Amino acid sequence: MRKPFIAGNWKMHKNIQEATSYGELLLHKIREAGVDSDKVEIGLFVPYIHLSALSIIFDLSGVGVGAQNMFYEDKGAYTGEISPSMLSDLGIRHTIIGHSERRQYFGETDEACARKIRAAYAHDIEPVLCVGEDLEDREAGKYEDTVRTMLLGSLKDVAPEETEHLTVAYEPVWAIGTGKTATTEQAQEMAAFIRTVLADRYGSDRADQIRIQYGGSVKPENIAELMSMPDIDGALVGGASLDAEKFMKIIAYDDALLGKESKRVRMIPSSARS
Ligand code: PGA
Repeated sequence: MRKPFIAGNWKMHKNIQEATSYGELLLHKIREAGVDSDKVEIGLFVPYIHLSALSIIFDLSGVGVGAQNMFYEDKGAYTGEISPSMLSDLGIRHTIIGHSERRQYFGETDEACARKIRAAYAHDIEPVLCVGEDLEDREAGKYEDTVRTMLLGSLKDVAPEETEHLTVAYEPVWAIGTGKTATTEQAQEMAAFIRTVLADRYGSDRADQIRIQYGGSVKPENIAELMSMPDIDGALVGGASLDAEKFMKIIAYDDALLGKESKRVRMIPSSARS
């Protein structure tokens, strides 16, 4: 059974005050709704400068605060970079690797992703590897080849047993921040395709354990349908994760994920109420 994994990606948004008030509000909402952390995993990928404050806010809450990127070297003359040991020193256990914006604006290659994933594992940091085709490849019908190349290139040094700590996010570039969601069928088709590539590489038992998120204009209105698909195990949410109330609606896409706390609230005996 794969546990659903709903994660927000703030990208380059929010100042310190906005980040902490969002964190406190989301924590309050998660508790109020009684989100059951045994049934759904929540992640929040934030700019480096907010990692400390948000880790403190979400400490012991079951929400994993993570980075949006990291370098593969541990230390050295790499101005502007953040290393895996710096993240792990902060207690950070999650990072996105190879987001399409990193590939597009910062020249990140599959080779760099492969090195970053190796470095992440060396520091017990779990990567969310992003893959996805651009509009040109989609229209030319080359999307499967593109995604297969990205997956195999980025995972080339990952051993079968390490996939236990791997999440793959399928994010078609043409659907990111455009308001244009892939249809549920397109998202499912690609998630299933990704699982086949993973099965060829690692065997189907391993592939069946790896969580595959969909990302690209996920919002409260489309999350339930996406999550009803057999190979979609979660979402990586950009724009809609910037608003705590909206993100909360995405986290609570299914009533079955809520309960513990809300039941407790409902079950307060009348004698205890004033
Ligand atoms: P979006 O971004 O939800 O704003 O489309 C998704 C992502 O880039 O992870």
